[in-house]
Amino acid sequence: PVLVVDFGAQYAQLIARRVREAGVYSEIVPHSTPVADMLAKGPAAIILSGGPSSVYEDGAPTIDASLFDAGVPVLGICYGFQTMAQALGGAVGRTGTREYGRTPAAVDASSCLFAGTPLEQSVWMSHGDAVQAAPEGFAVTASTAQTPVAAFEDRSRRLFGLQWHPEVLHSEHGQKALENFLHVGAGIPATWTAGSIIDEQVEAIRAQVGDAHVICGLSGGVDSSVAAALVHRAVGDQLTCIFVDHGLLRAGEREQVENDYAQGMGIRVITVDESERFLGALAGVTEPEAKRKIIGREFIRSFEAAQRRVIEEVGAAGGEIRFLVQGTLYPDVVESGGGEGTANIKSHHNVGGLPEDLDFELIEPLRALFKDEVRAIGRELGVPERIVARQPFPGPGLGIRVIGEVTRENLEVLRAADAIAREELSAAGLDGEIWQCPVVLLADVRSVGVQGDGRTYGHPVVLRPVSSEDAMTADWMRLPYDVLARISTRITNTVPEVTRVVLDVTSKPPATIEWE
Ligand code: XMP
Repeated sequence: PVLVVDFGAQYAQLIARRVREAGVYSEIVPHSTPVADMLAKGPAAIILSGGPSSVYEDGAPTIDASLFDAGVPVLGICYGFQTMAQALGGAVGRTGTREYGRTPAAVDASSCLFAGTPLEQSVWMSHGDAVQAAPEGFAVTASTAQTPVAAFEDRSRRLFGLQWHPEVLHSEHGQKALENFLHVGAGIPATWTAGSIIDEQVEAIRAQVGDAHVICGLSGGVDSSVAAALVHRAVGDQLTCIFVDHGLLRAGEREQVENDYAQGMGIRVITVDESERFLGALAGVTEPEAKRKIIGREFIRSFEAAQRRVIEEVGAAGGEIRFLVQGTLYPDVVESGGGEGTANIKSHHNVGGLPEDLDFELIEPLRALFKDEVRAIGRELGVPERIVARQPFPGPGLGIRVIGEVTRENLEVLRAADAIAREELSAAGLDGEIWQCPVVLLADVRSVGVQGDGRTYGHPVVLRPVSSEDAMTADWMRLPYDVLARISTRITNTVPEVTRVVLDVTSKPPATIEWE
């Protein structure tokens, strides 16, 4: 793999994705990983990410200089560039002014990083410190008005550095610079493709499962659908999907899932109605992490109960089912603290919320993948476009979109409002542009309204339309006013419990996409 060393502030995920877009597999490791452990992974190259620290602050993360003697190609970016300069004997200092945003840079045509790009290009800067002198043996290969040493390299040792962020789209030729580093500087071929991922996973799944029977929890979303299709490709009829109706679904969802799989994909699906179990366990619970833990636990309990049905109806070999497929993605793993040293922001139901007495061995064929990669392999596997292109819907469903207690009544109200919002957004042709648009019921908040002739005292719903590339960061979507107006009018006219429709205009960070 190409290792992306994470110096914080979530730059590393974006870099890892860009590397994969260049057809090269990448993994993120925390900066605290010892160099020997990094090298033990046999990296084809190493990229040092940006980060929020100053190299000369006490306790600032550093990189052991032995990394640069290992013969592995290295690219340092922003903070990674500075810490690299420092480790190799160059000088880093405060500039006194911050260079931030789009900045014109002059690049050196002789550097392989800039092959095929113009000598003057716009790059994305975000720094207050700067490399003042390149280490011995390094040539300076780019500069800006304020930063004379904006890139450097030692071609013979295959060590490179960039002060700007090639991973962000605002750096005009950033992706090209990354590709040049990988393919030319480090000599790594572009072999990470949807087809190669499928082949590799199919083989791994067959080896793990043998002739055992496998069940898959299907949510109807992209991740579990593609995971199921992949496992189906690997073991065919040994797979049975279980669709748990937890009572927290959106309108029409159950029927859609049942039709799409059985008819569309030829995969066996058994639906179990467990809404009593879930709503019973959620009664009186309002704290988001508690809800997530309960839902995660009840999911597993539901599977355990469904096992018996599968064994009865399908007749699993050996009379037991040991394997459970989950559509866990790489960002879920990182955000749930699975990559060491990262904060636990939310317990995603399919990672952090698993009970300890779990009775299944997990098959998680998407655990190393980002969402766009999952969509690509879904298409390659022939998963219908209406499933592959679906907007994400969280496993805990509407349970984390009712703020306050999750009751049947609250769910009915939210379901009705959500169906209207989805209908209007689709009718306006906005599905492709929106990452997702949660509709959130503030069941804890009451608000006075006047509906018909009388005073009402109902609840607000929040529209949370966001644009995003990977759900790690997101911006609120500037929806057309007339679409917002139609949604608001229809909701308040047809859902009597809702007295107000409000718009969430917060980005992520500091907010998250879901409210809980
Ligand atoms: P947040 O709210 O953390 O959400 O910004 C990021 C993305 O993840 C989805 N999400 C989940 N998906 N299980 C899932 O499968 C979960 O527990 C879960 N929580 C949030 C959310 O809809 C968004 O796309």
